[in-house]
Amino acid sequence: MKIDVLSLFPEMFTGVLESSILKKASEQKAVSYHVTNFREYADNKHKTVDDYPYGGGAGMVLKPQPIFDAVEALTKEKKPRVILLCPQGEVYSQSKAEELAKEDHLLFICGHYEGYDERIREHLVTDEISIGDYVLTGGELAAMVIIDSVVRLLPGVLGNEQSPIEDSFSKCGLLEHPHYTRPADFRGMKVPEVLTSGHHEKIEEWREKESLLRTYQRRPELLERASLTEKQKKWLEELKKQ
Ligand code: ADE
Repeated sequence: MKIDVLSLFPEMFTGVLESSILKKASEQKAVSYHVTNFREYADNKHKTVDDYPYGGGAGMVLKPQPIFDAVEALTKEKKPRVILLCPQGEVYSQSKAEELAKEDHLLFICGHYEGYDERIREHLVTDEISIGDYVLTGGELAAMVIIDSVVRLLPGVLGNEQSPIEDSFSKCGLLEHPHYTRPADFRGMKVPEVLTSGHHEKIEEWREKESLLRTYQRRPELLERASLTEKQKKWLEELKKQ
């Protein structure tokens, strides 16, 4: 996968893309990152990328020219998914991450100003994404969140021990069950007995039930979209009665 980022603050990406799994993924050539300062594409003497809004009002608006030219310069024969980060976009989710992970070229547009000229949205962008109902100072952190969640899904990036199949949301849309490691007794706080029993079927059942309970208690709205087995549906009915 190729990932292009357009940003006025490319230095924000260095620590994130050059650490941990995201770094490993580029070293093993599962992904390549290219962060471009789109100010380089401004065709005016002062390299201005924003201007006052038509009709007046507070704040500046990102001009279409530098962004159109940058996207066109970075686009080869096949058009990439062009993703605009903004609070008005569709709210990001694991299923969107899975969808983006199937692409071979993503291009993120990060604004740091009041707004984008609407023609960028209408004629250049394929997806508008928000990472949540709050306002950031710019799209950079949002792009990094999306890049992180997509790259870890690319084949071979996570080892078997960290398989994304077990993630919250991936496993039939439920939250993950609790995890424990040694010691079995830490300051009198004990690990649930079933986990040390060696009884694999019982452990699996306990995990499934805990996953369902956790989702019911913390994120009940996820249960409406989850694909539950008949057994899970029965447990859920029992939980509701309790
Ligand atoms: N830019 C500003 N706020 C944002 C958000 N919540 N998500 C994505 N991009 C943003």
